[in-house]
Amino acid sequence: MDYPKYRPRRLRRNERLRELIRETTVSPKNLIYPLFVGPGKDRVQPVSSMPGVAQLSVDRAVIECQEVRALGIPAVILFGIPEHKDSLGTGAYADAGVVQQAIRAIKEKLPELLVITDVCLCEYTDHSHCGVVENGDVDNDATLELLAKEALSHARAGADIVGPSDMMDGRVGAIRQALDQNGFENVAIMAYAAKYASGFYGPFREAAESTPQFGDRRSYQMDPANTDEALREVALDIREGADIVMVKPALAYLDVIYRVKQKFGYPVAAYNVSGEYSMIKAAGQNGWVDETRVMMEVLLSIRRAGADMILTYFAKDAARLLASQ
Ligand code: PBG
Repeated sequence: MDYPKYRPRRLRRNERLRELIRETTVSPKNLIYPLFVGPGKDRVQPVSSMPGVAQLSVDRAVIECQEVRALGIPAVILFGIPEHKDSLGTGAYADAGVVQQAIRAIKEKLPELLVITDVCLCEYTDHSHCGVVENGDVDNDATLELLAKEALSHARAGADIVGPSDMMDGRVGAIRQALDQNGFENVAIMAYAAKYASGFYGPFREAAESTPQFGDRRSYQMDPANTDEALREVALDIREGADIVMVKPALAYLDVIYRVKQKFGYPVAAYNVSGEYSMIKAAGQNGWVDETRVMMEVLLSIRRAGADMILTYFAKDAARLLASQ
């Protein structure tokens, strides 16, 4: 049917009509809020490159989680910043580590809030690489054992989902095996399956104090030019036991999200990363774009591409906005 019989504008005339035919939605239920947990007590240390985001002590993180829950957001993902870093990242798998303490404290107060943990060594190693460094290179197989230990200690503390973000080969399988052997077959794995070596992680590295001390992450994170390879990475992680597969970053990789969802039909998470957040905040603060509007447009685009869930620093802002509409 063509114009003048078909007039697409007929269904755009008012908000009720537009709502009736709306194809994609963003709900607080689709969002996961990242939290940076550091040492100390009653400590809130703002991250200068991420307005509205701060490193929190465990007690403050619990308070933040209460707010998150009240806004209808179902899950948080925790990143730990230990007091001391060392070459093997021992803080990552210590039962008294900062994330392990945070999980216990959150679960005690808010048992129904889903706690996801980032499983990686970069926040805990003194060189800030995501694994064990041997002769200037990250040793893949030596790292697997430590990642499995880390995931296991998160599960023991009460994590619902563990999220390996290191990009070592074989880590999902190693983690699944360690969890199953220790009675944690119900702890799910959200694998950072297609994680690109991206400039968009800049502000996160300030927040997590995890800028590599030498070199960069291109020998383990993916080349931004590749999509077929992303599909192979996702296939591997699914075969090794991933329950949810993640694409990261989100905004510059919407095509990857789309292809992963179409090809595998698995639950897909997308990480709307720190740089994507900071760009919008900065432009908003300068009055160059309408921050709220652009935020919702970006979140919608990630859902439209096929993401079931979005990890985003905007989760609270978006949930507040949605509640007021
Ligand atoms: C740890 C990790 C990173 C992010 C999530 N987990 C940093 C990195 O790989 O350099 C980035 C998140 C963000 O930028 O918001 N490996």
